[in-house]
This record gives sequence, C-alpha cells and structure tokens, in this order.
Amino acid sequence: MAMMPDRIRLLPETLVNRIAAGEVIERPAAVVKELVENALDARARRIEIAIEGGGIARIAVADDGIGIAADDLPLAVARHATSKLGDDQLIRITTLGFRGEALPSIGAVARLAITSRPRGAEHAMTLRVEGGQVFAAIPAAGREGTEIVVRDLFFATPARRKFLKSIRSEADAAEAMARRLALAAPAVAFRCESDGRVLFDRPAETLAARITGLFGANTAEGLIAVEATRGALRLSGFASAATLTRASGGWQYFIVNGRPVVDPVLRTALRVAYRDVVPAGRHPVAVLSLELPVEEVDVNVHPAKSELRYRDPDGVRALMIGALRAALAMPLGAGAAPHAAFRPRAQPAYEFAGDVAPTKPMHFAEPRLPFAAPPAARRFDPAPFSLPATPHAEASGAGALVSAPE
Ligand SMILES: Nc1ncnc2c1ncn2[C@@H]1O[C@H](COP(=O)(O)OP(=O)(O)OP(=O)(O)O)[C@@H](O)[C@H]1O
Ligand SMILES: [Mg+2]
Repeated sequence: MAMMPDRIRLLPETLVNRIAAGEVIERPAAVVKELVENALDARARRIEIAIEGGGIARIAVADDGIGIAADDLPLAVARHATSKLGDDQLIRITTLGFRGEALPSIGAVARLAITSRPRGAEHAMTLRVEGGQVFAAIPAAGREGTEIVVRDLFFATPARRKFLKSIRSEADAAEAMARRLALAAPAVAFRCESDGRVLFDRPAETLAARITGLFGANTAEGLIAVEATRGALRLSGFASAATLTRASGGWQYFIVNGRPVVDPVLRTALRVAYRDVVPAGRHPVAVLSLELPVEEVDVNVHPAKSELRYRDPDGVRALMIGALRAALAMPLGAGAAPHAAFRPRAQPAYEFAGDVAPTKPMHFAEPRLPFAAPPAARRFDPAPFSLPATPHAEASGAGALVSAPE
C-alpha cells in the first residue's frame, strides 16, 4: 500500500480547477452549454456555435453580448470570480451562471482563448489559458461581443480524455445540447455548425417558429399549445397531441426560468399526464417552459445546474399534469384558440420513428432531422412522483446532460 503523507495541505489552483472540471465539464456538450449560457447571460441577441471534431478538437461560441472589460479578463478565468452573484444572493439567482467556475475549469483542461470587445470599446483583447497556465491578455481584432474558443479538450488530463466516446457520439451530444439551448431562448438568434455543416441558423423568433425550424413542420403540426398557471407558477409551451409519439423520450425539453434542465420532476409529470394516451413504449414530444419566482426553486443542487429542487414539487407536478390533461382533452388544432400556434390539419399527423411497423400507410413520412443519428437517450425510469435516490450519480452518467433524439 502506498504511504499516505500525514500532513494536510491546500491543493494547487490548477489541480483544484481540474477537479472542478471533472464535475462541470464532463464532455464537449458541457462546454457548449457553459459557453452559450455565458453568452445568454451577457444578453446576446445572436449566438454562433461552431463544433469541430465532436467538440474535442474545437468549440467556438461567438456572441454580440455586453463583452468583458479588459481589466476583468483575468478575473473571468479565476476561480470563484463572477459578475453575476451579489454577496449572500444564493436564493435569488436570475442568471444562468453564478459560480464563476466554468471558464477556469475549461482553462484547466483545454486550450481556452477568450476574445472580447465590450460595447463601445476601441478594440478587443484576447486572453489565453492552456492547461491552467494563464497568459497575459493582448490586444486583438474582434467584433463587439465575445468569442470563446476551446481547443484540445482534456489534453491536459489524458485520463479523462479516455472517457470520451467516439467523435461521432460526442458531436451528436454537443449538437443536441446546442439545440436544447436554442429552444430555451427562441428570442435570441442562433446558428450552429458542426465540421462546417450548418445544423441550424435561426433568427430571433417565437417558440413555435423555433420548434418548427429545429424539428420540421410535421413534428410541429403534431403539437398542441399548453398554457396554464397555478398561483405564481406558469407553464407554457407545446406538447404532443396523442397522435405524435416517438420511440424514445429524448424529444422532451424542459426549461425552468429560462434554464434548460433535465428535470426528473417535470419528466415524470409529463409521463404521468400521457399515461393513458400514449401506447406503452412510446413517448410524447414536448417543449415546456416553467416560470416561477426564483425563490421557489434551488438551482444550486447539481454540478452542471441541470437538475433543480423545488420548494413545492407537488404544486409543480399538479400544474404540469393538469395543464397537459386539459390540453389533451381538446381535439387537435382546437387546442386553446388564443395560443394555438400551429395550423390544425385535417388528418392527425401520425409519425413513426421506424421502429414499429405501421398498420396504416404512412401518409406523413417523418422528415429526417438535419442532424445525424444521435446516441441513445438517457434512460430515466423512477417510480412516478419520486426522485431518483442518487440524482448526482444518475446525472453524471454518460449522456446525462443531453437528451438526444432517437
Ligand atoms: N460571453 C461572455 N460575455 C460576457 N461576459 C462573459 C462571457 N463569458 C464569461 N463572461 C464573464 O466571465 C465570468 C466567468 O464566467 P464563468 O462561466 O466562469 O462563471 P459564471 O458564468 O459567473 O458562473 P458559472 O460557473 O456558474 O457559469 C462571468 O461571470 C462573466 O462576467
Ligand atoms: Mg458561466
């Protein structure tokens, strides 16, 4: 057995950041998430994502947000440095980020370059961090806003790099994350390309238009509008009419106070709401946004902030199940006149994912999404109304951060 030194010591900063990176940055998709969330927090109106080599080789996210002042650049990559959280504010979090952990974590395990030009500044500055080594910021050319480029993910932690999957499946996960983020912020223009192929390029638009743009008109037309409130809670969005189902639950997107989340409470409530409507083994499609007072929800319970804790989970479930059941009771297209965003169609849109032989002729061939076949979606099967015993363990499994199409 190895001898254990008997003195307690503080770990060096780079090592601390690498440890943090193990939780926050488990794969390229997590880099996409952190960079885009920063751009959204910076009030970007347009965000451009470019993924290369599955995001392991390179991820670039450019925004036209408020930028980072030259003096603040070194702070942006310092641990626990954030512009977003006031002292003592942990119960009133209104930004997507708040820990000041993402950029130092990325800088500790990859080659990070931040080029930023605050609105009104004369020129941009670039700061590089490689494997935890921070270089001095230098003047650079750049548009107003911020561009962050991450290359050679995990080059500094080769053991970690071995846990990555194939380039194709990392690309799929990163692309799915980009789609998830684009759905959470339809008012922001989003472009995403992977190895030079444009996956989507959408202007600022309504949620309905964003769904149509990302999923295709056939899927969009099989959705009904959902809109309900319960006290201070408000649920809105779109979910499957009973006729639109898929072989996996991967097409279920939840947004809580603007934050894209993988939320067992919402996921389970969705399943319960559709229990009598959707055949066994099939899953509804949903893009649902929950808004509630910030003090009603704790976002500081998960390293990637993708799971939440509600002060009143029963109220959230009741709202969700009630709203969906009410929407489902309405005929397709009649769903909620004031909010119906999709044209009703004469015939219900049956969609088959190809795994079940249809008993009727397939009138509406499912459009291929403009994305390549993604990895199997994360399985989640707790008993209704119960949280998994170990949400963290569950969430840190491969693919936990993404919910990919089937
Ligand atoms: N795209 C951007 N535009 C403007 N400022 C940015 C951008 N990205 C990062 N920053 C600045 O850098 C700081 C550090 O970013 P980082 O993501 O590490 O932490 P955070 O967003 O504050 O918290 P979290 O770790 O929860 O994401 C931010 O607080 C913000 O001030
Ligand atoms: Mg952040």
